[in-house]
Amino acid sequence: MADRTKYFIGNWKMFGLSGSYKILERINSFIQRDKKNNKKYKVIIAPPFTLLDSFSKRFKGKKIKIAAQNCYEKDNFGAHTGSISPFMIKKTGVNFIILGHSENRALGEDDKVIKLKVSLAIKNKLNVIFCIGENKKEKKNKQTLPVLKRQILSVLKKGYKFNNIIIAYEPVWSIGSGRVPSPVELKKIVIFLKKFVNKKIKSKIQPKLLYGGSVDKKIIYNLKSVRELDGFLIGGASKSSKNFIDIIKNFYK
Ligand code: PGA
Repeated sequence: MADRTKYFIGNWKMFGLSGSYKILERINSFIQRDKKNNKKYKVIIAPPFTLLDSFSKRFKGKKIKIAAQNCYEKDNFGAHTGSISPFMIKKTGVNFIILGHSENRALGEDDKVIKLKVSLAIKNKLNVIFCIGENKKEKKNKQTLPVLKRQILSVLKKGYKFNNIIIAYEPVWSIGSGRVPSPVELKKIVIFLKKFVNKKIKSKIQPKLLYGGSVDKKIIYNLKSVRELDGFLIGGASKSSKNFIDIIKNFYK
């Protein structure tokens, strides 16, 4: 039977101090109390590098899981000032990592670099949340599907198993803008992407596919009609426990 587990993943970006663990504690105790639905979903929060070690220790064995937001494209230790390798991330106890986020692509991270990062992350047994998405201009020029195909084919290798890779479809024009694709538009893309990955990467496992971009407690009502979605990558609204919890509550309402 297909795994129907939903994912609610929070991307804190450049946010959070050591006391911010309280946000995670509130989310974690909500999950514990949410007996009706808590077997149906998983919650992962990605704080900045500075908090990975302390958060992963504090929340070890708890419902909530911790993710890194990026890594360097070389492994182990090395002369790379300011960089953090997938090996170092794994050693903090973290098991997930966001890669290919459009904010990093905008800073010059290309498909080649992302491909390296993904393969090193998998080598270190990190579960990858791989972000793809078209920008405003590409959407306007009807390039959405070719762009998504290119991003997938240049990073994911044939034979990758999708038990450790989650794809997050995040249209760049939607991130932080309050604009989201219509449910009809989104459904088409989600179905296309799932089929495309199975066919091209020859994965036997159906990839998990999330949507990200301006997800909040109101928009979730529209998005949940896209039943093929396996969850959401949430930026701004994940910095408040109340907003984040409301997204989960409204999803299951
Ligand atoms: P947003 O960010 O929810 O604030 O639009 C999503 C993301 O960048 O992952």
